[in-house]
Amino acid sequence: MNRSVIRAATPRPCTLVVCRGCCCGNPRKHRGTDHAWQLDRLRAGAAEHGFQVRTTDCLGPCDQANVIVVQPSTAGRRSGAHAVWVGFALDDDSTDDLLRWAAQGGPGIAEPPAALALQFIRPPREARARARR
Ligand code: FES
Repeated sequence: MNRSVIRAATPRPCTLVVCRGCCCGNPRKHRGTDHAWQLDRLRAGAAEHGFQVRTTDCLGPCDQANVIVVQPSTAGRRSGAHAVWVGFALDDDSTDDLLRWAAQGGPGIAEPPAALALQFIRPPREARARARR
């Protein structure tokens, strides 16, 4: 069996893609947040609850830092969910909400916490397309 067949058959859990580019996670630009602590908490939650966390370079909307993309699990995608972009994730409350939602299964599986839903932002490509209309 080749690797792509094995990979396609393995269900993926909800994944938090944590931007750590030029602005997100930068203590010189966002002084009131312990960015390392935030990432430690997310990784500890992933280890405890079975979702995944990975970091990435700049995702684009730096003016909405910290940006975290919540990718649905395989089951969430099957139910029609897409990746959800969260902006301004700078405080403990939004980190708590991200942890809670990912632990419950994330997009397509569990409803997002109401306060976190207020922080949903448009992905850059979608925002650009809307601006052109
Ligand atoms: S550094 Fe996160 S969006 Fe640019």
